[in-house]
Amino acid sequence: MQNRKKILAICGSTRTNSTNHRLINAIAELSKDSFDIDLYGGLTQLPQFNPDDDNEHVSKEVVGFRQLLNKADGVIICTPEYAHGVPGSLKNAIDWTVGTSEFWQKPTMLITASTDGKYGHQSLLETLHVIEAKNIHHLQLLISFASTKVNEDNKITDMTTLNETKKLLERFEQTMNANMKVE
Ligand SMILES: Cc1cc2nc3c(=O)[nH]c(=O)nc-3n(C[C@H](O)[C@H](O)[C@H](O)COP(=O)(O)O)c2cc1C
Repeated sequence: MQNRKKILAICGSTRTNSTNHRLINAIAELSKDSFDIDLYGGLTQLPQFNPDDDNEHVSKEVVGFRQLLNKADGVIICTPEYAHGVPGSLKNAIDWTVGTSEFWQKPTMLITASTDGKYGHQSLLETLHVIEAKNIHHLQLLISFASTKVNEDNKITDMTTLNETKKLLERFEQTMNANMKVE
């Protein structure tokens, strides 16, 4: 049996009763035999990224975020799209990792769960590609009309979405188990 994987989940929505938060709960339930998923709770505590502050005196919140990423076997990002873009707090968090490369070769799974979501999804895919998250183009899913597909009980109710999510989780686990560089 493979070792259990330690996963850091990042929700791009900080809203109460977020669909993306419920989707992370659904994924945690689907993968409970293989993954220990911790939800990152510090998105709103991170300071606004400023390259001038990205030095040895960086804030403890940023240090903590980077440590969580370094310790994780893989990262799951679930996010809505805002105004055809990536939510600012999520992009801000990722910007804090660009200089220190926490996402470099880190197996990273991206789900954009939104009303439509395609612009934000493409934008975040490009960001994760350029910071070299491992296998990102094979570990991504766009779920449109997401609020109709994940219910209040943290269940994915749309069968196509459920099957796609299961397949995505399989590829995510394979990527974590592969020790070669995939892309
Ligand atoms: C400020 C704002 C802008 C939004 N812009 C978009 C958008 O451009 N495209 C889209 O698909 N949904 C947009 N939405 C809708 C949300 O993405 C959608 O409600 C999503 O399900 C919210 O995710 P959450 O439930 O995890 O918070 C926007 C919502 C807000 C609050």
